[in-house]
Amino acid sequence: MKLCGRTAVVTGGTRGLGRDVALALAAEGATVVAAARETAEDPGGGVVVLKADVTAPDSMRTLMDTVHERYGGPHIVVANAGLSRPGPVARLSVEHWTEVVDTNLHGVFHTVRAALPYVSESPGGRVITMSSLLGSRAMPGAAAYCASKAAVEAFTQVTALELAADGVTVNCVAPGYIDSGMGRALIGNEELWARLAPTLAAGRPGTGDEVARAVLFLASADSSYINGQVLRVDGGVL
Ligand SMILES: NC(=O)c1ccc[n+]([C@@H]2O[C@H](COP(=O)([O-])OP(=O)(O)OC[C@H]3O[C@@H](n4cnc5c(N)ncnc54)[C@H](OP(=O)(O)O)[C@@H]3O)[C@@H](O)[C@H]2O)c1
Repeated sequence: MKLCGRTAVVTGGTRGLGRDVALALAAEGATVVAAARETAEDPGGGVVVLKADVTAPDSMRTLMDTVHERYGGPHIVVANAGLSRPGPVARLSVEHWTEVVDTNLHGVFHTVRAALPYVSESPGGRVITMSSLLGSRAMPGAAAYCASKAAVEAFTQVTALELAADGVTVNCVAPGYIDSGMGRALIGNEELWARLAPTLAAGRPGTGDEVARAVLFLASADSSYINGQVLRVDGGVL
């Protein structure tokens, strides 16, 4: 039990990769709060669900204050919530561009900023952001998504520099093609998958659990001297 006595917040922790992460942290003894806009679904594993919208700064502040009052901390924050609105730039609507950047980039900023007073209260705090293979690899039709994830990686590195003196580490996980959450639709797209599958050194998509174990490593004391890194969990897409 590596995370006993720790409180973790996972945005978008109700389903997909976020749920996999929430369950992995809870299995190591953390008190885990999954935050999402829709709270009807129970992720299981004793994970508590609270309603919050990462695009709204006040909502994130209320979330972190509530978690602090009820459970202490948070000591660990996983800024995982994200979405994709594919489309070529020439036909990408302003609404879809804004929705992606608001959620994937501004949402990470609002989440981390609201958590910082608590995460940096005592040494050992952990911030983990969620990028993607597409944060460093161009894919036609994914301009908003790629741009938002590249920015998340830069944000992670700057925040890591700023918080290092408080004993807080800030790292990023960049999953590749994963058979969980939004990755399922990609793998299910026969034409696209026929082109992507041969780029996988592992010869198969990753599982949500494989991503969750990377997040768990960065959330635990095992990663105490790792800071400002982007950990690519993609089975070797080279
Ligand atoms: N799955 C993959 O293959 C893959 C690969 C690379 C990177 N990623 C990244 O991993 C993260 C999780 O993706 P996923 O595949 O698990 O997606 P998912 O299954 O679609 O889940 C997304 C989660 O984010 C929440 N969310 C979305 N907008 C939100 C908002 N404004 N405020 C609060 N919560 C919000 C959703 O809950 P509500 O809709 O109820 O709010 C849901 O819990 C994303 O950042 C994604 O870019 C995924």
